[in-house]
Amino acid sequence: MPALISVALVLAALLPPHLVDAALYQNLDALPTNVKPFDFTVAGGGTAGSVLASRLSENRDFNVLLIEAGNDTVGVIELEVPAWASKRNDTEFNWRFESEPMPGLNNRTLAIPRGRGLGGSSAINAMAYTRGSADDYDNWGRVTGDSRWGWNALWPYIQRHERWTPPAGGRDPTGQFDPKVHGYEGNTQTSLVWAEPSDFDLRVRTNGLLQKKEFPNVLDLNAGKPIGATWLQSTIGNGERCSAAKGYLTPSVRERPNLTIVLNTYITRVLPSKSSKKLDIRTVEIAPRDGGARRTLTASKELILSAGVIGSPQILLNSGIGNKADLTAHGIPSVLDVPDVGQGITEHVSIAASFGTVPLNQTTSRTFSCDYDDRIDDATALAMWQQNRTGPLTERFTSHQLLWFRLPSDTPLFKQYKDASTGPTSPQFEWGLDATGGGTLVLLSPYSRGSLKLRSNDPFAKPRIDYNLLSHPYDLAALKEGLRSLKRYYSGPAWDGYITGFKGPDPDILSDAEFEKTIRDTAFTTLHPVGSAQMSPRNSKRGVVDSELRLKSASGLRIVDASVFPYVPAAHSQAPVYILAERAVDLIRSVW
Ligand SMILES: Cc1cc2nc3c(=O)[nH]c(=O)nc-3n(C[C@H](O)[C@H](O)[C@H](O)COP(=O)(O)OP(=O)(O)OC[C@H]3O[C@@H](n4cnc5c(N)ncnc54)[C@H](O)[C@@H]3O)c2cc1C
Ligand SMILES: *[C@@H]1O[C@H](CO)[C@@H](O)[C@H](O)[C@H]1NC(C)=O
Ligand SMILES: *[C@@H]1O[C@H](CO)[C@@H](O)[C@H](O)[C@H]1NC(C)=O
Ligand SMILES: *[C@@H]1O[C@H](CO)[C@@H](O)[C@H](O)[C@H]1NC(C)=O
Ligand SMILES: *[C@@H]1O[C@H](CO)[C@@H](O)[C@H](O)[C@H]1NC(C)=O
Ligand SMILES: *[C@@H]1O[C@H](CO)[C@@H](O)[C@H](O)[C@H]1NC(C)=O
Ligand SMILES: *[C@@H]1O[C@H](CO)[C@@H](O)[C@H](O)[C@H]1NC(C)=O
Repeated sequence: MPALISVALVLAALLPPHLVDAALYQNLDALPTNVKPFDFTVAGGGTAGSVLASRLSENRDFNVLLIEAGNDTVGVIELEVPAWASKRNDTEFNWRFESEPMPGLNNRTLAIPRGRGLGGSSAINAMAYTRGSADDYDNWGRVTGDSRWGWNALWPYIQRHERWTPPAGGRDPTGQFDPKVHGYEGNTQTSLVWAEPSDFDLRVRTNGLLQKKEFPNVLDLNAGKPIGATWLQSTIGNGERCSAAKGYLTPSVRERPNLTIVLNTYITRVLPSKSSKKLDIRTVEIAPRDGGARRTLTASKELILSAGVIGSPQILLNSGIGNKADLTAHGIPSVLDVPDVGQGITEHVSIAASFGTVPLNQTTSRTFSCDYDDRIDDATALAMWQQNRTGPLTERFTSHQLLWFRLPSDTPLFKQYKDASTGPTSPQFEWGLDATGGGTLVLLSPYSRGSLKLRSNDPFAKPRIDYNLLSHPYDLAALKEGLRSLKRYYSGPAWDGYITGFKGPDPDILSDAEFEKTIRDTAFTTLHPVGSAQMSPRNSKRGVVDSELRLKSASGLRIVDASVFPYVPAAHSQAPVYILAERAVDLIRSVW
C-alpha cells in the first residue's frame, strides 16, 4: 500500500502545472495563508459579483479575490436545462429565505428564493431578459443627482454585457426583435424562444393591430419603450442557461493568474482599518460556509460588496453599519449609524388571473412547461436537448410573449394617487401571454416598501425580511384597474373563437370586501426584490451609498448589486443588475 501511495504522489508531482486549477479553491481551508495581497475583494459571487471579478481581472495589474458562500453552478445539469429552472429547489443552490408575516397579505409569509453559488440568482432564475424602460434609468439619474445613470448614458454598458444569439434550433426570428438594440460581443447570451409562433401567438399579433391604441405590438421590449405586446427574450444561448458564472467566469477567465475564487466561504462581516483615522473599510471577515474559525483579508484598493439584496444589508448590519438603536439592541457595537440600511426593500406584487378558452389541443402530459400545442413527451424532449440543444427543454416559460401596459390616463385612480411609475415609457403592469388563458398580473411600480432587519447577532442567522406588500392602498386599487384592462384586452376581436370569458378575480362581480380578501389571500411576488441599501445624492442624509456606489461617510467600500436600486424597475431585475455592474466596473477603473 505505501508503495502505491508514493507512486501516486510521484505521478501527481509530474502533472504539468496548468492542469492544477490553482486559482479556484473549494473552501476556505484550501486558501493558502500566505496568499499574495489582493487589490480588490469582491464579496459575493452572484450576478453582479461575477461581472466585477471578471472585468476587474481583465487588467493584469489588478489582483482580484472573489468570495462566494455557495458552490460552483456551472455543469449542474438541472441549472443548465432552461425548462428545469425550478428543479433544484434545495438549499444547496437556494438560500430559501422566508418573509415575515405580512399584514397586507392577511399575515401570510412568502418563500424568498435567492441563488447560492457562483452566478447567484442568475444561476437559478427564470431567465427572462428585460432591461426596463428609459424612464426607469433616467429617474435613477434624477433621484441620485447623477445623470450618468440615465438610459442614454448607460447604453454602452447595456451593449457591453450582452451577446445576442439565434434561437435554439436556428429558426428565423426576423421581425420578432430589433437587431439595432442588441449587443453582440458581450458575455451574457440572450435569445428568442425555440418554438415557431403558435396560433395563440399569432392572435396576439393580430390583436396588437386591432387594439393599437391601448395594447399595441412592440417590436422589441429592450429598446427602452416596452409598452405593448412583445416577444419574450431570455438569458439563454445555444439552448442552455447563460448565468453570470457561465457568461463571465468562463474557463479562460478562471485560468487568469490574477483571479482567485474561494467557494463555500461565508462573509460574516466587513471591518474598519485600525490604522486609518477616518472610517476606511476594506477588510472582510470570512468563515467556512457552515461556520468555523474565521479569517480576515484586506484589499489594498477596494472591497466590493455584491452579496445581493438580502446578503449585502445583512453583512452591513452584522458589521455595525446600520440603525444604531436596532444594532445596540442586538448587542452589536455601532461602527456607522446609517438608519437606511435594510429600509425600503421593494418587490413586485403579483396576482394570478385567468380567462376561459375553447378546448385546447393538449394531448401529452408533461413535467416541463412550454407551449401547450407541442405534442412532445418528456423522453423526446430530453433526447432533443441532449442531441442538439433544441426542443421545449430550451424554454422556461409557457408564454412566448409578454404584455406590458399602462392604465388610461383618465382612470379615476389617478385623481386619488399620483402614478407610481417612473414615466410614460414605463409600463405599470406586466401580463404573461399564455395560451392557456391563465397568468400572472404584475404591478411593476408599487408604493409599498418594506424593511430588512437582523434576527440576532449571529451573522449566520437568517434576517427578518418584511416586504410589507399591499400596505399602501394604491397597490390594491391599481391591481383592480389592471384586471379591468386585461378584460378589455381579451375582449378584442382577435380573441373570437378562442377566449370565452373572464374567470376572475373579477372586481366587477366581487364586492369590494370580497375582492380585497381574495387579493390579500393570494397575492405573491415575482422574485425581484431590490433597494435594501439604496443610492442617493452624496449630500443626502437618506440612502446608504452615493451615486458612485460608495458607502457614505466611509472610504474603501462599494456596494454593487440589486440592493442599491432606489426603486424596483418595470423589469425583471437581472438585466438592470448586469447594467449596474458593468457601469460600476468603469467607475472603479476610473479611480485606479
Ligand atoms: C427563482 C428566481 C427567479 C427569477 N427570475 C428572474 C427572471 O426570469 N428574470 C430576471 O431578470 N430576474 C429574475 N430574478 C431576479 C434576478 O435573478 C436577481 O434580481 C439578480 O440576479 C440579483 O443579482 P445580485 O447580484 O443582486 O444578487 P445575486 O445574484 O443573488 O448574488 C448574491 C450572491 O452573494 C452570495 N452571498 C450572499 N450572502 C453571502 C455571504 N454572507 N457570504 C458569501 N456570499 C454571500 C450569494 O450566494 C449569491 O451568489 C429571479 C430571481 C430568483 C431567485
Ligand atoms: C497578473 O498576471 C501576470 C501574468 O499573467 C503577472 O505578470 C502579474 O504580476 C500579475 N499581477 C498581479 C497583480 O498579480
Ligand atoms: C461542490 O461541488 C463539488 C463539485 O461538484 C463537489 O465535489 C463538492 O462536494 C461540493 N461541495 C459542497 C460543500 O457541497
Ligand atoms: C395579523 O396579525 C396581527 C398581529 O398578530 C393581528 O393583530 C391581526 O388581527 C392579524 N390579521 C389577520 C387578518 O389575521
Ligand atoms: C421551492 O421551495 C419553496 C420554499 O420552500 C416552496 O414554496 C416552493 O413551492 C418550492 N418550489 C418547487 C418548484 O418545488
Ligand atoms: C435535432 O435533433 C432532433 C432529434 O434527433 C431532430 O429531429 C432535429 O431535426 C434536429 N434539429 C437540428 C436543428 O439539428
Ligand atoms: C386544435 O387542432 C385543430 C386541428 O388541428 C385546429 O383546427 C384547432 O384550431 C386547434 N385548436 C386550437 C385552440 O388551437
